[in-house]
Amino acid sequence: MSGPNTDYDPVEVTPLKAEEVDAARDAALAAIAAAQDLEELKQVRIDHVGDRSALALANREIGALPPAARKEAGQRIGQARAAVNKALAERQAVLEAEHEARILVEEAVDVTLPTDRCPTGGRHPLTTGAELIADIFVAMGWEVAEGPVIEAEWLNFDALNLGPDHPARTMQDTFWTEPAENHLVLRTHTSPVQARTMLTRGVTEDAPIYVVCPGRVFRTDEYDATHSPMFHQVEGLAIDEGITMAHLKGTLDHFASQMFGEGITTRFRPSYFPFTEPSAEVDLVCFVCRGIDSEDCRTCRGEGWIEWGGCGIVNPRVLRACGVDADRFSGFAFGMGIDRTLMFRHGLEDLRTLFEGDVRFTTAFGSEI
Ligand code: PHE
Repeated sequence: MSGPNTDYDPVEVTPLKAEEVDAARDAALAAIAAAQDLEELKQVRIDHVGDRSALALANREIGALPPAARKEAGQRIGQARAAVNKALAERQAVLEAEHEARILVEEAVDVTLPTDRCPTGGRHPLTTGAELIADIFVAMGWEVAEGPVIEAEWLNFDALNLGPDHPARTMQDTFWTEPAENHLVLRTHTSPVQARTMLTRGVTEDAPIYVVCPGRVFRTDEYDATHSPMFHQVEGLAIDEGITMAHLKGTLDHFASQMFGEGITTRFRPSYFPFTEPSAEVDLVCFVCRGIDSEDCRTCRGEGWIEWGGCGIVNPRVLRACGVDADRFSGFAFGMGIDRTLMFRHGLEDLRTLFEGDVRFTTAFGSEI
């Protein structure tokens, strides 16, 4: 059995040699003094007191020494490490103070500099988009009409042939205001503006109605990427002698191509609305694939068409309710979402971006006044 290694000379263990320890300490102190900023000091700390540094290595070797040799080696290394740590702490304090002083100077705000106190704002893309739509109709000789967003129940529903039991009239679909006996709703479409136009203006041979009604509407929808309890609609109404579905189709084709580009037309699918008869859903030629080789198109999911809105020939019951001679005049009406139309036009994926007021989104539309 071997006894303790009494011949062991600590001085012979290289990391523990006095001159090695002194050299490691001096190198550390020099590096600390030379560190110009906190980043450099961090690196110095890693290099000179980190786990792989000469001093850490020496410290670990102490444990392997015979007890008699440990004390001296321990003292020497302990002193060296203490000197280095003290220098580090001092340098850290100096560099931190310098850093703060520099930030104060560099980031100072000169409150006397002239500023642009009234940065030029821009109108919201929904506003300019609604106007663009209105302009397309104004260019065809139409008028633009607006109405209240808190609307009489009768104008929002009854006048438009939506009977008392129609599901759209329930609390689940529509926001009602209190007290209930006032019969006021947040309008669910802009069709009541059309009813108001007929009622206030009437229709004569010399004064037919061609009116577009853009505006804000409300339904109790969830708020998600494609729905919102508040959104915008544009509806149109034409009342004249001899109005047919052909006029409606021609008008919407023109609207579509003005909005989405030459060649984007519409198709009608039979549908039902209480206020029009016959009624149709309006689809747009997919503005991405243009209906050609649509199988792989993600926008229209291979359909070649995209749902845009509803339309039809105004139900004579609506004309009569609004005081129009239904034997003499006929009309067409249509309605679509402005938000949805703008989403198509600008490739927006999330409806909410239109409502959340983030200038990083809106300024991309320019600052048209
Ligand atoms: N008012 C209908 C809606 O809000 C749209 C529409 C208008 C449909 C005119 C046909 C005719 O859903």
